[in-house]
Amino acid sequence: MKNPGHAVLLSVFLCQIYITSAQDCPSKQELQNSLHQAQKLLSAQESSYLQSLRTLKKKLSLLQDSVVQLPAKPRNLTCPALDTPAHGRKLGKVLFPGHEAHFLCDAGYELLGSETRQCRDSLSWSGQQPVCREIDECLSSPCANAGTCTDEVNGFSCVCPKGWAGPACQSPTPTFLVTVMNSPAVTAAPAFTRPARCSAVQGTTVCSCEPGFSVSGRDSSVCTDIDECKLFHNGPAGRLCLHTCVNTAGGYRCSCPAGYNLTRDGRNCKDIDECSSRQNDCTREQICVNTYGGFQCVKVECPNTRDATYAKTSAVRCERNPCPAGSRSCSQAPNSVSFHYLSLVSNLSAPRVVFRMSASRMIGDSLRFAVSGGRSRRHFSMQRLDRQTGELLLTGPVQGPQTLELELEMSELERRELLGRYVTKLKIFVSQYEF
Ligand SMILES: *[C@@H]1O[C@H](CO)[C@@H](O)[C@H](O)[C@H]1NC(C)=O
Ligand SMILES: *[C@@H]1O[C@H](CO)[C@@H](O)[C@H](O)[C@H]1NC(C)=O
Ligand SMILES: *[C@@H]1O[C@H](CO)[C@@H](O)[C@H](O)[C@H]1NC(C)=O
Repeated sequence: MKNPGHAVLLSVFLCQIYITSAQDCPSKQELQNSLHQAQKLLSAQESSYLQSLRTLKKKLSLLQDSVVQLPAKPRNLTCPALDTPAHGRKLGKVLFPGHEAHFLCDAGYELLGSETRQCRDSLSWSGQQPVCREIDECLSSPCANAGTCTDEVNGFSCVCPKGWAGPACQSPTPTFLVTVMNSPAVTAAPAFTRPARCSAVQGTTVCSCEPGFSVSGRDSSVCTDIDECKLFHNGPAGRLCLHTCVNTAGGYRCSCPAGYNLTRDGRNCKDIDECSSRQNDCTREQICVNTYGGFQCVKVECPNTRDATYAKTSAVRCERNPCPAGSRSCSQAPNSVSFHYLSLVSNLSAPRVVFRMSASRMIGDSLRFAVSGGRSRRHFSMQRLDRQTGELLLTGPVQGPQTLELELEMSELERRELLGRYVTKLKIFVSQYEF
């Protein structure tokens, strides 16, 4: 027994129950002393227990407090959600590290800040939150003749001073008409000149013309057409036509190259989709690819090499036939060859992503993406979007008309061992014009 108190109590207890011989038991005085000592021990024990109970209680309440302060959920393993800029769009919803978000602005707005932001390993986004700012079309002073410009979304409007009219205050308006006098007869006047209407105002002769004409001639009696095309050929905001401007008597009209239709506003050109409108002459074995300003008829033919043969499994895909047993060169040939056709406009701003390739299902533990060939490979580079997706980046503007060809390869690996190769042959038709 470790506790001396217990020994004393036990001996008192034994003496009370089995009194065999008086000599074996202590005297009354000794017993009283022992009991007194036991009592003292007991109260010491008691206060020590109470002390440790109090400490325990304190510890418990501290623990309780810290549990309350713990965050409700485990720490985020994602970057914070990004705002979509007003008047713009956000592409990319995945918030895990390595993923990107791209931002675009609506027509008439320009992007300030980062076009692309990446979720970093530190769980914060690279770059700055972009905003879409309205483009001030008035900066290029598109209103002629001291007109007042008002900026509007995707355009501008002009308030013209007295004497001028038209969308850009380009046409003089007749202002004084008091009494019409005899105009000099202009016989066989060319369409672009007309006699002016002249009036006498307080003794002086004042001549005026219809909108689109200006007063000219030695005596200001002739109206000459204003060449709006010449007047507005500078500056994108002041440009009247996307393609060609044709001056007409008193006005102008726009025209588009073959393969385009004039849009309803009469100023822009829209590509005609010859493939959907049956304005193409592609045969049934060919695929019609609409391009900006035209179309192409392409034919997909599966490669047949010494090493491997291929079978067409869809209009744009060939898959390798089973390999002869033990043929290493066959089993290392691409498992599939796919064909893709893209149409781009000339002088497209770059860098920009033009194509994505990804694995629909994955057997190995990693994928590798590469530009593996083609005569136009110098214009492109491959980058990874996520574990399963590679993006083809156009690295600089390309001038059309021309056709770019390149070959992309995705390889699937398991512990660095090649499991399969998937080739995509890409043909990109670049238009002659920037639209
Ligand atoms: C964790 O992510 C959620 C959802 O994106 C977000 O609402 C929350 O504010 C994030 N919490 C922290 C501590 O970043
Ligand atoms: C293009 O414009 C012409 C003339 O307005 C019209 O006949 C034709 O249907 C248009 N084509 C397309 C593809 O919109
Ligand atoms: C290509 O575009 C840029 C910017 O829009 C322009 O400055 C340049 O003149 C264009 N180049 C050609 C050849 O049209």
